[in-house]
Amino acid sequence: MTATTLIDTLPASWYRDAQVFEKERRHIFARNWHLIGRSEQLAKPGDYVTGDVAGWPVFAVLDREGGLRAFHNVCRHRAGPLFDDAGGHCQTIRCLYHGWMYGFDGGLRTAPGFPETGALDKSKFGLFPVRVDAWRGLLFVCLDPEAPPLDAWMGDVADLSDPFPAITDFSFHSLTTYEGRCNWKAYGDNSCEGYHLPFIHGGLNKAVASADIRAYENGGFVGFDIGYSGEGDVRAGKGLWVYKFPAVLLHFSERAINVEQVEALEPGRIRIQSYYWVPKGDEKFGDDYVADSRAVIAEDMGVCERVQKNLDAGLYSSGKLSAEKEPGTIFFQQRIREAMDLPPVELGNSA
Ligand code: FES
Ligand SMILES: [Fe+2]
Repeated sequence: MTATTLIDTLPASWYRDAQVFEKERRHIFARNWHLIGRSEQLAKPGDYVTGDVAGWPVFAVLDREGGLRAFHNVCRHRAGPLFDDAGGHCQTIRCLYHGWMYGFDGGLRTAPGFPETGALDKSKFGLFPVRVDAWRGLLFVCLDPEAPPLDAWMGDVADLSDPFPAITDFSFHSLTTYEGRCNWKAYGDNSCEGYHLPFIHGGLNKAVASADIRAYENGGFVGFDIGYSGEGDVRAGKGLWVYKFPAVLLHFSERAINVEQVEALEPGRIRIQSYYWVPKGDEKFGDDYVADSRAVIAEDMGVCERVQKNLDAGLYSSGKLSAEKEPGTIFFQQRIREAMDLPPVELGNSA
């Protein structure tokens, strides 16, 4: 690819079509790892966190031996929910609808009111399992039994982020949830390029002196090697921004870490779960850093929502991407095209 190469964007219809979205759920989201919480949230047996993988509700729990377990948040009786909050502690897993109880291994223990002897073979009605693993203090789940292990999935993110302080060097500040009216790919397209910085982010643009952007095959992500100018209160030294396909953003710096999971809720709706870690004992810096990040995300979301409106309106059907200015967005869109050509993941008991 030369510096003057122009690439067609994904069609506008892919950003609004319910059938494309349904296909992406199985071809992209079910195949990849998805951030659902922090490792420290599962400190003792019975601690749990819940999450949503493109419409599949899931939860992770620490079992009695201290092992990580994860399941679909779906009861095998009549599909009721096991948990309806973000996380907490439980003695046992009990369905909120009619009280069927499951062990931390997912096995069905009791079905109140059902005859003890009879047609219900409990061994066949355990919870649907989900893969779960931790990466450097972050808890991920994956619906596809065939997907690579989490470490391999992260690929070169590990080596690249090694020079930066780890989550354990900081203290957790907060989790902020953002709702946005755009397709998840509009947010992804935007996050994979720095072309928009001078126009959308006046403050951030002053703070960034240099940004070297490239795509990494090992792990499938876009990395931004950032040099901060020192202007502004919260950004200095070096930074690493990662857009990990399909929808995890990791921001490392010498002074803080911010990790975002973009959740695709509907073709035109996303939710971002944004976690912040900041220096221990420096509350003021932490608050300033998070306020700055919130402003940047609001600027990004603002333009993505405007783009989505225009994609929905039905005038624009496709555009061009510049290999020089938007190599990360080209890489992101290419991964989507490739994923949509693979066979879908089969889940649950439909087969
Ligand atoms: S749906 Fe869970 S007990 Fe009925
Ligand atoms: Fe941005």
